[in-house]
Amino acid sequence: MSDKLGISKPAGVSRRGFLKGLGVGSVATGLLAPGSLKDALAKEGGFAGPGELPVTLKINGQNRNLNIEPRVTLLDALRNRLDLTGCKKVCDRGTCGACTVLLDGHPVYSCSMLAVETEGREITTIEGLGTPEQMNEVQKAFVHHDAQQCGFCTPGFVVACTAFVRKNPDATLDQVRAGVGGNLCRCGTYAGMILAVADASKKGGA
Ligand code: FES
Ligand code: FES
Repeated sequence: MSDKLGISKPAGVSRRGFLKGLGVGSVATGLLAPGSLKDALAKEGGFAGPGELPVTLKINGQNRNLNIEPRVTLLDALRNRLDLTGCKKVCDRGTCGACTVLLDGHPVYSCSMLAVETEGREITTIEGLGTPEQMNEVQKAFVHHDAQQCGFCTPGFVVACTAFVRKNPDATLDQVRAGVGGNLCRCGTYAGMILAVADASKKGGA
């Protein structure tokens, strides 16, 4: 969706464009935050891994310290080490968007990034986007339009769509259709989701 730093763009960019970006390692690396992986390398005297490294990830406004091997993806760090299980592992290869989180406000596929690459960045997961008592506009609209079936894809959609409506107030249905193109729903709940995102967008964002 939306622009995802050019490395991951679950919505707002075509799947072809997103995959093209992912396929070029040097482009992805060049677009990542300066310093994070480099810092990790420096800590190990110029060589990172294969053992664990101490990293601090800023997630939902809180610093979380952990020791992880540099090969660990952000998705696995969130789910397996920090118990933030809202992001889902489905394809594990940057195709479905179920693992979407925000990185400095941009949606990214967390299965396709290393956790150490995200040190020093602002990570927002679905757990940081509202509560059942105080939902954001996208969450409210999903409920209103009954925009889910099994719900497995829903957290990724809500995260990606939140970034989309923040960037695209008053979006047309065609813009919404293009905007949700980075996420897949196996249940095919697209009609409700498109209406939900259009509604949230008209309310001025999330
Ligand atoms: S699990 Fe990350 S894109 Fe599918
Ligand atoms: S609601 Fe089931 S995969 Fe989307």
